[in-house]
Amino acid sequence: MNLLAIETSCDETAASVLKDDFMVLSNVVLSQDEIHAPYGGVVPELASRQHLKSIDFIVRESLAVAGIPLEEIDIYAVTQGPGLIGSLLVGLSFAKGLAYYFRKPLIGIDHVQAHIQSAFLEHQEISFPVLALIVSGGHTSIFFLKKKLRFDLVGRTRDDAAGEALDKIAKFLELGYPGGPIIQKLAENGNMDRFDFALPKMTDRSLDFSFSGLKTAALRIIRENKISRDHPQLRDFLASFESSIVRALLENMARAAGRLHPKSLILCGGVARNKRLRARFAAWAASAGLKFYIPSPKLCTDNAAMVGGLALEKLRSEKKQVPALDLDAYPRSRPSLPQERSVKNRD
Ligand code: KG4
Ligand code: ZN
Repeated sequence: MNLLAIETSCDETAASVLKDDFMVLSNVVLSQDEIHAPYGGVVPELASRQHLKSIDFIVRESLAVAGIPLEEIDIYAVTQGPGLIGSLLVGLSFAKGLAYYFRKPLIGIDHVQAHIQSAFLEHQEISFPVLALIVSGGHTSIFFLKKKLRFDLVGRTRDDAAGEALDKIAKFLELGYPGGPIIQKLAENGNMDRFDFALPKMTDRSLDFSFSGLKTAALRIIRENKISRDHPQLRDFLASFESSIVRALLENMARAAGRLHPKSLILCGGVARNKRLRARFAAWAASAGLKFYIPSPKLCTDNAAMVGGLALEKLRSEKKQVPALDLDAYPRSRPSLPQERSVKNRD
């Protein structure tokens, strides 16, 4: 059986063909970074227009790389949400059209759950329960998976996502877009102890994140020290800021692990490409004696292979399929999905 997956939730147009044994035959991603770079962030209207221009070519390309003609696709999968509504609708409408024309089933997929599932594409042996940190430009959340496909949200950001905070500071300093990889490069040889960032503390016992405080602290340090893109301490400042974000992420993960006792850990999403985060996550997981999995960089940023992977997993467990034309896009997280029940945070 061959599955074609489509992802257009933000600013990447992506398509992937997978076999039902989870083998990825193609994983084609067209980034719109160059289009949004002059604005320092994604412009929703430009993103959806660009998806419209690219989707046909990207789907054809993914089929060509896989060596599978469209007539041999048995099932379709597409990201339903969360994401930019105009962008989501391009992928969803395209997938609906194909599924309708070829009279094949279409599976709607949650983007955040797909990010977590990306780890299973490379490691089907991951043992449950799993604690997963998804950290990207749009999301920063911790999920607990007691078993396959059971995604329980245990913590999320109350304001900015971690990637968004990196992107915004890069934009403020006119360093370019997306900010995460640019900051990583500049921060590489910087002194991360040069500037002090106090981490925010939640007054309740929740495992939620907040990055707006770190962003405000960063802006204050920039102002007080007159940091600009050619300031001699730019690298130290960026290393300190990047390191504070990594600390905030890992501190909450450590607390969550202490309460929920997972067997394995997953780090995923675009910011999981970050070298400092990967290294510190690995060091912490090893010291806690937990197995950990970080997808290879190509599977961390938005892609359609992760969408296909989750669709195949769902197909194995749920035989019932929704008629293709009933699927609708949703822009915000849907915590009320059947498998997503909030776990009570108890020590
Ligand atoms: O998962 P993704 O492609 O899209 C969303 O679903 O948001 O993540 C994009 C985010 C951006 O904020 C970008 O700056 C960040 O991932 N990012 C990184 C790195 N590569 C991408 N952040 C830190 N270090 C990186 N190497
Ligand atoms: Zn994403």
